[in-house]
Amino acid sequence: MAVKVAVLASGRGSNFKALLESIKSGKCDAQVRVLITNNPDAPAIAIAKQAGIPVEIVQGKDFPDRESMDERIRALLDKSGAEIVVLAGYMLLIKGKKLLESYRHRIINIHPALLPAFPGADAQKQAFDYGAKISGLTIHFVDESLDAGPIIHQEAIDISLCRSADEAAKKILEREHEAYAKVVDSFAKGKYVVEGRRVRYVPAR
Ligand code: GRF
Repeated sequence: MAVKVAVLASGRGSNFKALLESIKSGKCDAQVRVLITNNPDAPAIAIAKQAGIPVEIVQGKDFPDRESMDERIRALLDKSGAEIVVLAGYMLLIKGKKLLESYRHRIINIHPALLPAFPGADAQKQAFDYGAKISGLTIHFVDESLDAGPIIHQEAIDISLCRSADEAAKKILEREHEAYAKVVDSFAKGKYVVEGRRVRYVPAR
């Protein structure tokens, strides 16, 4: 059965778009219930509207603190019936304790580097400037840390021939699109068991 998904995005939304295309082509067995964004100018909004997906804008400026902002997000997630929450370029840390608790091991993020190397912003540039020959992508569960939740999936990507950080980012992004949709699909076909830092996949029978 299709896994019900909520997407949180702040910007361009290319991973969101790739996910929708993958669903449309039958490669990913998921249903996107809602797009939640903190950025009213995010190009991701137009992508959602075109696909007939409801959009909710939740901005920090409308709340006294991050806990209450994330409480609003939690209410919207509950209302949407989402089973998993896919962060696709969501630029805020999730700080709401209740949100993290209710959706523990159900919120996933994609990071454009091989964690724990190069966490935080501009990971591709960090890796390129460091002179790394191999970087990659990491899909992980989200917890209160920055880019350090239990790892679901990783792919190594050779960036040794890239001539700029942008070129490396482009190469990684192409792989992100495919990998993220595959991982989302895997939630429809089984479950992830988290034991400490280790994540084990159990396919449905
Ligand atoms: C991607 O590189 C993703 O790994 C990172 O943010 C970027 C989002 O890009 N977390 P997009 O908005 O999906 O195009």
